[in-house]
Amino acid sequence: MSNSPLYFDIAATTPLDKDVANLMNTINLENFGNPSSIHSFGQKSHNIVERSREKIAKILNCKSSELFFTSGGSESNNIVLKGVLEKGDHFITSSYEHPSVLGLTDELQEKGIEVTFIKPNQDGMLNALDIKKAFKENTKMVSIMYVNNELGTINPIKDIAQFCNEHNILFHTDAVQYVGKKNINLNDSHIDFLSIGAHKFYGPKGIGLLYCKSGKKVNPLISGGGQESGLRAGTENISSIAGMALALEIAHNTYDENKKNILELENYFIDTLNKADINYRVNGSNRLAGIFNITFFNVQGHSLLMNLDIMGIAISYGSACSSGSANAPLALLEIGMPKEEAACSVRISIGKMITKQDIDKLIKSLSAIIVRIQKK
Ligand SMILES: Cc1ncc(COP(=O)(O)O)c(C=O)c1O
Repeated sequence: MSNSPLYFDIAATTPLDKDVANLMNTINLENFGNPSSIHSFGQKSHNIVERSREKIAKILNCKSSELFFTSGGSESNNIVLKGVLEKGDHFITSSYEHPSVLGLTDELQEKGIEVTFIKPNQDGMLNALDIKKAFKENTKMVSIMYVNNELGTINPIKDIAQFCNEHNILFHTDAVQYVGKKNINLNDSHIDFLSIGAHKFYGPKGIGLLYCKSGKKVNPLISGGGQESGLRAGTENISSIAGMALALEIAHNTYDENKKNILELENYFIDTLNKADINYRVNGSNRLAGIFNITFFNVQGHSLLMNLDIMGIAISYGSACSSGSANAPLALLEIGMPKEEAACSVRISIGKMITKQDIDKLIKSLSAIIVRIQKK
């Protein structure tokens, strides 16, 4: 068993794939031209950006003109919500969205936009019919996350998008935790807007995408030199864009193999946990492979995280996406879990670099900490 640090937090971010890092290094050293410049330095960079856009469009099965590069999932979510909704509109979202959606709702309400929050059920999912029941005459848009980042639960996005389409309501999904882990066919969906962040699928940080279906109008958040067809000004991050395209291509080519490996590790994790005689419960159903939210009864999640960290093992308590948060995970409270149990729950997410030996080490360390804490 090696003594190198172990990372069980791929839902927060993934390590950068080595081939992606090499490609980005080469581009950074060799392709510094501004993609908007007419000379050949610029045109070389422009070609990298556009070939990357085409590669991603092919994987997501949409038109390349429907894809806009952004700095990540948070920015994509902000562009859609702030760029589509106007005073007098009604907006529906869920009560356990990422802060880059939930955090905007006060501002939207101050602007005169009415917001309805739909609660997830106790299994951690939204019911498409609950969303349909909330439709009003003036409902302009619905935004529901594809996969919840704290629970890993997958929402019935196809059904929700279908209902919205039948009622002429725009539909946005924050697919940051979904894209790169499972296939998505945008041409065959009623999704109007979709947000992606590359650092969840072994791509670089600070780069993402917004998909906007042809003909759907969004006002820009950042104005300037007219890049990204005027939707998102600013000189393009060429190496990160190419890195994201390659990371998505690698993920796309290995979905089945990756899922099989992760499921095998998941089963091994549960078997080993059961043998260790630890009192636990996995929260949420219909989960994405590799993301576990687990309650270890009578053991504070924050304390567990800190103790594991001392032993060189990283897990998550609350959402790392909300900047070092030490509060009980919001999603758990929203599914109706008592506060004391939510405070005893952590997220363990298993990536493609994890081995069975790593899981042995995690569970051995978990057992030792739990026994020690419970003795106190
Ligand atoms: C569901 C979800 N949406 C949005 C984000 C934010 O994405 P980014 O870090 O690319 O801005 C995250 C996590 O970071 C997330 O898990």
